[in-house]
Amino acid sequence: MKKDMLAVSHLMPCSVVLLSAGNGTKKDAMTATSMFVSEDPPLFVVSVDRGHLTHALIEETGQFVLNVASVGQVKLARGLGSTHGDRVDKFKKFSIATEKARVVSAPVIKGSAVSIECKVITSFPVGTYTLYLAGAVDFTVNKALTPLAWHFNRFYSVKDEVK
Ligand SMILES: Cc1cc2nc3c(=O)[nH]c(=O)nc-3n(C[C@H](O)[C@H](O)[C@H](O)COP(=O)(O)O)c2cc1C
Repeated sequence: MKKDMLAVSHLMPCSVVLLSAGNGTKKDAMTATSMFVSEDPPLFVVSVDRGHLTHALIEETGQFVLNVASVGQVKLARGLGSTHGDRVDKFKKFSIATEKARVVSAPVIKGSAVSIECKVITSFPVGTYTLYLAGAVDFTVNKALTPLAWHFNRFYSVKDEVK
């Protein structure tokens, strides 16, 4: 039996982030997955397809916000993951409420479980993607909200602890 290697990426449960970037006049956001690679210092990686407008804005500014999607943002996560900012203003289309980040130029998306403001430390090309290693420079937590996870192409709540 031939294995479908393209399905491999669906095997691992992933974080769901609304990755936002902006240069003050233009902004975009896309759904992505991210992971932390160091707690102290706080470092994260995210890989972004080079064809995306979000990618262009990260390249221009060296900054982004990892807005950890909450359960209430599942429709937004689907929408931001299936539309392209160079064709439509996603902030208007999905009526996204934002606030100014404290340190970076990218917008913070309201209603997210956590918003982590990041500055790129280094990046390198991987296939059609750029892998960014970034350091957290500020963050906002909304403890009342439950984050989403992604597995086998479906979204899940991470609410229930298993003992
Ligand atoms: C759950 C989920 C995770 C995704 N993860 C990534 C990712 O890590 N990197 C990426 O480049 N695209 C990822 N995508 C696809 C982008 O969100 C999608 O191509 C988006 O339309 C790009 O937006 P933009 O063109 O406005 O930048 C993901 C989509 C979904 C639904």
